[in-house]
This record gives sequence, structure tokens and C-alpha cells, in this order.
Amino acid sequence: MSISYNAAERVFRLDTPNSTYLIGIVDAEGFLGHIYYGHRIPDDNMGYLLRLEESRAPSVNNRERLSFYDAFPMEYPGHGVGDQRQACLSVETPKGYRACGLTYRSHTIYGGKPKLEGLPATYGGAGDCTTLELTAEDRTLGLTVRLFYTAFEKIDAICRSVRVENTTGKPIRLTTVLSACLDMDNQNFDLLTLHGSWGTERMISRKKLGWGKQGVSSLRGISSHQEQPFLALVEGSATQTQGQVYAMNFVYSGNFLGQVEMHQQGQLRMVLGIHPTDFCWNLAPGETFQAPEAVMVYSCTGLDGMTHAFHDLYRGHLVRGPYKNQPRPSLVNNWEATYFDFDTERILKIGREAAAAGIEMLVLDDGWFGKRNDDHSSLGDWFVNENKLPGGLRYLSEELGKMGLRFGLWVEPEMVSPDSRLYREHPDYALQIPGREPTLSREQLVLDISRKEVRDYVYRSIHAVLSEANVAYVKWDMNRALSDVYSAALAPEAQGELYHRYMLGVYEMQERLLTDFPDLLLENCSSGGGRFDPGMLYYSPQIWTSDNTDAIDRLKIQEGTALVYPLSTMGAHVAACPSHTNSRSTPFQTRGHVSLPGCFGYELDLTKLTPEEKAMIPGQLADYRKYGPIFHNGDYYRLASFSENHVYDAIMAVSKDQRTAVIDFVQVMSCRHLRSVRIPLPGLAENRLYRSSETGEVHSGAAWRYGGMPLPKLRGDFLSRLIVLEAVEDLPAEA
Ligand code: GLA
Repeated sequence: MSISYNAAERVFRLDTPNSTYLIGIVDAEGFLGHIYYGHRIPDDNMGYLLRLEESRAPSVNNRERLSFYDAFPMEYPGHGVGDQRQACLSVETPKGYRACGLTYRSHTIYGGKPKLEGLPATYGGAGDCTTLELTAEDRTLGLTVRLFYTAFEKIDAICRSVRVENTTGKPIRLTTVLSACLDMDNQNFDLLTLHGSWGTERMISRKKLGWGKQGVSSLRGISSHQEQPFLALVEGSATQTQGQVYAMNFVYSGNFLGQVEMHQQGQLRMVLGIHPTDFCWNLAPGETFQAPEAVMVYSCTGLDGMTHAFHDLYRGHLVRGPYKNQPRPSLVNNWEATYFDFDTERILKIGREAAAAGIEMLVLDDGWFGKRNDDHSSLGDWFVNENKLPGGLRYLSEELGKMGLRFGLWVEPEMVSPDSRLYREHPDYALQIPGREPTLSREQLVLDISRKEVRDYVYRSIHAVLSEANVAYVKWDMNRALSDVYSAALAPEAQGELYHRYMLGVYEMQERLLTDFPDLLLENCSSGGGRFDPGMLYYSPQIWTSDNTDAIDRLKIQEGTALVYPLSTMGAHVAACPSHTNSRSTPFQTRGHVSLPGCFGYELDLTKLTPEEKAMIPGQLADYRKYGPIFHNGDYYRLASFSENHVYDAIMAVSKDQRTAVIDFVQVMSCRHLRSVRIPLPGLAENRLYRSSETGEVHSGAAWRYGGMPLPKLRGDFLSRLIVLEAVEDLPAEA
């Protein structure tokens, strides 16, 4: 068991392979104090770190209780009684009382991990993880709060969630329920976050932590292109391979707040959870509220260690379904090939080229339904446009099937076009505020997915389409942020629940889809990567990374994405040139190499390729079949970052058995190569010999690691190379 309770010390200890987390029950009243999180240590008696004499424990100095609240490292802080830092829990009683503070009541420790009702979450059996369920209470209110901590046996991750139970006997209103808090001392930290916009998702930002509050958030109703529900405190001296990192990631796809607060005396409070702005939850007596899960990762081996923990956790304990451990099919998507301008024959033509080249699946994107020949209409009317597609999707999928291609389909279930039958019949199905003109985006409105009848209507119509054709894959899109967030079905005092109810509705629909079509491969998407988050990964093992398909821009987007998310989750396609996003032209081979590590496909008109480009496809697919599993299942290393050095980019994946390593190198800018760049290759078995596909040279893992590999000197911009290291033999162990 990786969790234990030391009754003498009144300390809970949670261990992962390289980390220890200590919680103390403190003072006569039983405050829950955060004692320690960091490198694994054997000691339980670390209570001295709380410095109770400095923060004036109430049992010895109740006169200064406010000072205690204001400095004590709280495990899960309430508000209104003296802790002036960010609250994790705030409530309002019917009388308008707004204060709560938690103390220990009881605990249980058990193997495995409970499910989070209605929410995505990591999972694991008794052999994988242990859970501490810590029950706390506000004794004045009679409120019960359960804090869940799951420590994984083989991964340096602790997953946390919170359940509030209204045991007060009266209705109560929750106004803040965050999912995790980490009070600690500053260790010369930098704050690492991911920022962006449409087409530039997940750009890495690292800056010195300053005074006050800083962090990331979304109030868009989606996790967003702009900021990721991820933040990490990184020791200032930490590198890719060395130093301490404390990271948090939110298993949720809606509004969030991830924040670090540096307050008086340089103490830190790091929190993550549903954004308290525009949030409330009314709890009748006896009802419970389950907050989503936050994942904490600790690494003492720099950013690589953090990345490996997230990748292993998400691949092994978040992604589900038949594709969890299966190679993902190569596909061609018609979006950038045809946009809305297609018919059955045009799609079949692309299909013939795809089948001849060995591509496994064709995905029909936007424009197959209603009268949608542009983006002005028809969202919500999920009826096949037989003018464009005579014989419907069944005919199309059968014809593609005869060619040996599986069929995939785009849908955007959460949306409605004002110009649609659905909207004309049910305008109240859209989120909008009575008397105020709703704000359009891409000429569409958002459906009120919090309502069961709305979900049922949309789900049933999409279910009918999927059942009629043989659909192996669905791309679930979501193309705008929420605005005018008002539900015709909620009481005024419950409108603050709407953002979260919306997310619960989306999750329910996706769960239903996976239950009804258990073999389906789902890929989430939100105008590219606007909802690339762990919440979505619970339903779809892959997510469309970005609408920006330019290979060079993708290097940066994929770098930021892979910092947290496994390569097996990143949709990555070879697109046409000049790029539809930025007009850049890059060689076909480079586009292939940049897409190879992800879920590989083509996003172009295969009928318009040059003979030379066409001839390259079978080789790219063969590489994907051979090396895709190494990128998807192996350990990922960032060797060089184009966003940092502005010249070249290199990543490497090492198979878990350390027998094969693949290096994906892109020389973005040509430079005067007097001397090649030498890169150390981590992750190989030091006593094993490996042969390089580039030079044929054979060296030990230790030599490749410490001597390094000179990168090939390529003459020109935007050139790339795939270099494979294969194990040749094991060296005898040294005496
Ligand atoms: C979004 C997606 C694209 C494409 C279009 C279709 O922008 O990210 O990949 O599906 O919608 O309208």
C-alpha cells in the first residue's frame, strides 16, 4: 500500500516511486495541514515543517488565531474566518452566512480508486493505486467534505478530488469548490504554463514566479485555445533532465482556474479547480457535489520526468476503450481537400487514391447534412443531404468499404445554426438571455446541453445517422466559446450552475455514444485544439491538435502539447502546400515526419498530389506502422526545441523495452554548417549497443547518452530526417 497513517504522529503519508506527500492532523481542533510534498523520504515525523510556533497554533495562542489562519499551510482551505489567501471552498447559508473552515473527522484507506460520478477521471485497480478518503467537516455548519487522494504505485502522480455533502440539514449554496491545493515554500520557482490562440495552441511560457496571484484560467465554457488547465512550478535551475517540478493538470473541459499565489514571506498557494467566477451550486439537504479531478505530478528529473509521469498515467489510466492499446488507423480527412464543396463522386475519388496508397480510413468532415454548403446554416439538422450524397452515408460507406476503407464522420452536436429547422422549432434550446440578442460566432449558437431533452434530441438524431452507415470513427467538434449563458430550464438562483451542468451534459452524451457504439474511435476537436484536455481524453483517445496544419508551426504546437499529453493522443495530418493556415510551403517528406509521431493522417486532396508526392505515401504509412507504436507507447524525450533555438527541432521516442529509439529531426532554418550539432540521447540502456540508421555506427547506450549524436547536416530549409537506433547486442555486465 502506498498510503499509510501514522497514528502517533497523526500523519498521512502517500508515496509514489519518487515522491512523498505528507498531511498532518494538527492541534487540538484537528486542522488538516500540508506538511510536505517532494522527493521521496522515509520520515513521517516532518511536522516541524509546519512551524506551528511561528504560525501560532490556536491551542497555545488563540488570541492570534487570525495570524494562524493567514499563514498555516492548509490542506484544503475554506474562507471567511481568517485565511486571506485563495479559498478552495466557499459557501453561503440561507441566512447569508459566508464562512467555512474544515477540520478532520475520519478517514479510510483502500486499494484502487473510486469512480467520479458523471465525470471523467483516471482509474486504477488495487494493484495500481491506493486511495485515502479523508473526511473533514465544518463543525459550525455541520457540513461534510471528503478529500480523495489516490497515489499510483508505479507513476509519480497523485490524483485528487473533492466531494461536498450537505449534512447541514438546510439548503446551502457552494460558491467555490476547487479540486486541489498545494501550500508550500517558494524554492526559486519558475511558473510554467501553456498559452495560445486558434492555430497557436499550447505555446510554452516559463517565467519567474512573482508576488501576488498568477496563473491560467478559462471562462469560455471550454478549456480553450488560450490557456491550458495545466500549471507547473519548476525550480529555476531545472532543465529538461534535472531539477524539481510540481505540476497540476485538471481532468475537466470547461471553465477552470489554475493559480499560484505568492503571498507574505514568500509562501505559495497553488490551486486548481472549476473557476469560481460564474459558478455556484445549490445543495439541498442530503445532496452532494462532486468536484472534478486534479492530477498532481512531482518530478525530480526535470521536465522529462514530469512528462513521462503524465504520459504513463494518461495512456494507462485515463484513455479507455478498444483503441487504448491499439495502433490508431491512418486516415484521410476531406476538410482541407474540399471544404464544403463535395459530393459522393468527389469523396469516392479521394477514397480510391487513399485505398491505392494504403490509407485505412476516410473521414467525411463538415457539410454532409441539412443544406450546409457553407457555414451559415444547418447545425442541429443532422439529416444527410441527399442532393450532395445520393444514397446517403450508407451508400458512401459501403462503397468505401468495398475499397477496403473504413468510414469516419464529423459532427458538431453542441451547436445550432439560427438558420436550421431545429432552431426555428426550438429557439429556447439555444443558450441565450431573454430580451438580449445572443452573440453569434461562426454564425452559430450553443445548445443548452444542460437540458436532458436537448441532449436527447441531438443524440437521437446523430445516433440514427451513425446506425444507418457503417461509421468506425467520429470527429466530435465544438466550434465556439459559450456566451449568453442562460438556461430557459433553470431557476434564477441556479443559473450559476449552468457552465458545469453543460459540461456534465457533454460528458453524458459522449459516454452514451461510447456505450451504444463500443467499437467507435472518437476524436474530440474544438476549432482545432480548443478542448485538448484530460477530460476529453477519458472519452476520446485522440484529439485534433490544431487547425494549423503547417508543419513548422506544428513543431511548436506539438512541443507544448506533448509536454503533458502522450503523442498517441495528438491528431497530426500531412496537409497541402502552400499551407492553408499561413501559406508556407514545406517538403512532403517533412510534413510526413512532423505528423508521424501523432495519430497520422492526410488533410489534403489526394487526387491533386504530384506523382512524386503520391509515391511517398506508402513509405510514410510503412513508417507509421513501424514507428508509430514506438512514439505512441514509448518514452518521449524532447532533444531540441525550435521554439527555443529558432533553428532546429528534435524529439526522440524510446520503446519501453529500450530496444528501439526513433529520432524525428527537423532542420527548420538552414545554417552555415561548419560543425554539426551534437545532441546527447537519453533513455537508452547504457550497456546495450545500438546501430544508427543514419551512419551505421554502433555505440553503447552510454556513448549515445554522454558522447551524443551529431545531427545530420542538411542543406536547405524545412528539411527533416528520421533516424532509428536499433539494439544490436547487450554488453556483458561489468564485474
Ligand atoms: C473546425 C475543425 C476543423 C473542421 C471544421 C469544419 O474548425 O477544427 O478541423 O472540422 O471545424 O467546419
